Amino acid sequence: MTKKRIAIFASGSGSNAEKIAEHFATNPQVEISFILTNNPQAGVIARARRLHIPVVVFDRTTFYHSPRIIEFLQNQHIDLVVLAGFMMLIPEAMVQAFPNQIVNIHPALLPKYGGKGMYGHFVHEAVVAAQETESGITIHYVNEHYDEGAIIFQATCPVVSTDTPEDVAKKIQVLEHKHFPEVVEQLLNA
Ligand code: GRF
Repeated sequence: MTKKRIAIFASGSGSNAEKIAEHFATNPQVEISFILTNNPQAGVIARARRLHIPVVVFDRTTFYHSPRIIEFLQNQHIDLVVLAGFMMLIPEAMVQAFPNQIVNIHPALLPKYGGKGMYGHFVHEAVVAAQETESGITIHYVNEHYDEGAIIFQATCPVVSTDTPEDVAKKIQVLEHKHFPEVVEQLLNA
């Protein structure tokens, strides 16, 4: 069986990318082939270097107005595209080129607290402001709209009245780091 090849897109710190890479580090059937980012300052670049994963940095024009990223992923025989804190909308051409092969993690229980502008601390602030008693993570297929693809997996955590958005963020990150690698593995084995 040929090795499964994953490309991870990230715009920020990359803690999820690192957890996924660590999860597969001892699995000869799966390779994190590339980490791609739109942000030359992203913390994920340093993590990729430590993990000896090749990094591709691209800009908005390349991503939205050239076929280069799609062609790169196709030429590299990528089996699964994983968005892990990637802040850009996926162009329709890329969604079409990789049907049911692009997944994203969102730090809330979609369909609530999703969509444009709902990312990072904004999500947790909205959850706390709404006095929700639970939050969680959603892993979903990606389509051309923010956070609207078919849901693959959700996990929840309690939110108590004394929780700050930072408290919620910490609980969410524990769920992300635990479940995202496992769900990616299940998708590759499907
Ligand atoms: C996570 O909260 C994830 O749910 C969201 O972006 C954040 C990425 O965090 N999509 P990190 O860069 O993986 O640490």
